[in-house]
Amino acid sequence: MAIADRVPGPKGNRFKGQIQAFRENTLGFLLDCAHDYGDVVHFKTGPRDHFLLNHPDYIKDVLVTNNRNFTKSPFIQGKPLMGEGLITSEGEFHHRQRRLAQPAFHRKRIATYASIMTQYSKRHIERWQDGETRDIAEDMMQLALAIVSKALYDTDVEAETDSIGAAVDTVMLATQRSPAWLYRLAPSSVIKVLDQLPLPANQRFLQAKARLDTTIYRMIAEHRAHGGGDDLLSMLMRTTDEDQDGAQMSDAQLRDEAITIFLAGHETTANALTWAWYLLSTHPQVEAKVYAEIDEVLGGRVPTIDDIPKLTYIDMVVHESLRLYPPVWMMARTSINAFDVGGYRIPAKTSVMFGPYVMQRDPRYFPDPERFDPMRWTPEAQAERPKFSYFPFGGGPRQCIGEAFAWMELITVLATIAQHWRMRVVPGHVVEPQPRLTLRPRNGVMMKFEERVPVPHL
Ligand code: HEM
Repeated sequence: MAIADRVPGPKGNRFKGQIQAFRENTLGFLLDCAHDYGDVVHFKTGPRDHFLLNHPDYIKDVLVTNNRNFTKSPFIQGKPLMGEGLITSEGEFHHRQRRLAQPAFHRKRIATYASIMTQYSKRHIERWQDGETRDIAEDMMQLALAIVSKALYDTDVEAETDSIGAAVDTVMLATQRSPAWLYRLAPSSVIKVLDQLPLPANQRFLQAKARLDTTIYRMIAEHRAHGGGDDLLSMLMRTTDEDQDGAQMSDAQLRDEAITIFLAGHETTANALTWAWYLLSTHPQVEAKVYAEIDEVLGGRVPTIDDIPKLTYIDMVVHESLRLYPPVWMMARTSINAFDVGGYRIPAKTSVMFGPYVMQRDPRYFPDPERFDPMRWTPEAQAERPKFSYFPFGGGPRQCIGEAFAWMELITVLATIAQHWRMRVVPGHVVEPQPRLTLRPRNGVMMKFEERVPVPHL
């Protein structure tokens, strides 16, 4: 019997597989797969077989123990946008680029970014008015964009965040291409051709990409003109390639690396912050504890790096929020050689998927999984769970390079803003996760803003 028939899963239509269910309600479909069929599930979208892994040991196997047997391609949707940057490149080239970027993400280095994070947060909230209604998702996107640009590229983009944000929205939505059935059924060679056609969707994507490139190439040009400083972009620029007669990175390669970190470094944290605000606003008892901790630890001061270890309850809130709404909700790999998992032999060149959104809602590790409960994150409770029952930042050699940066940002931004503001979701506004490249709230999160304590002037 073929492996696809032996592994349990929803079989669906012979030709279309489960495309429709997958497309109409992706998150619900995947949760049902895990619930109904267990730790290894098979389903098809068009001609493509997928194996969904729902056990921490199996996920660890793919990401860590046997990571060399898996590539990210050809399921990398981001390549048309990010080219050969850190997220999308593979093998020796990826290894080298990662080594070059690493110093900018060193813990000591990240400590120096804390003051940028608090300064930009304070500056951002000065524009808010007591009693007004705002989309917190948009605010967090603008803030996270300004922070990553300043911290890693020493560039101020605050004046351009609206147009950059609109371009990012377009490129993120472009991952859902239409007509969907065609993109699901067509082999990747045909998709490459489709992407070149002058279709309106392709043109929108190309325009948005060009908008982002304008900012990135301007940053590169400015850095070249003044010789650069000690930010990530300057570091990458100064790097020479020993294997290529000491050649420096071309502008095209710098662009791929810069746009990758620019996008990965703000879209994810902005979504994480948005989901945290949403959860706090809908759980007033948790929110009250956050305020109590902030008032006790900070007493009205701006948080500094030394305060971070004392903000233990906020740390648990962030863990729990990343559990329920992981910005990177799904990961996928392709097997190089056949491999064994859960008693099955999965063939070479097969797609395996596993998602924080699904695994982190598994009642074996998180009883009553839909409940928002930061107390799941006491050190004792954490020690009882296997590592890969929770992996919002991935794992193994492709683990998020920005994890420490993200933690610092999530905690400093939440603490700085919560000192002064309380938000409430506008009645009637439906908040719903939309799984695209990242897990965004469909239609944003409209909140009523209430000032707790006025912001003193800088
Ligand atoms: C809450 C915030 C964030 C989350 C949840 C997140 C999540 C992830 C995950 C799950 C991966 C691995 C994907 C895979 O293995 O397929 C990843 C990779 C990556 N992340 Fe993040 N990330 C966050 C913030 C950041 C930040 C702040 C930066 C940079 C400033 C960043 C840069 C990257 C890069 C460059 C990679 C690719 C690493 C590689 O393959 O070597 N991320 N991220």
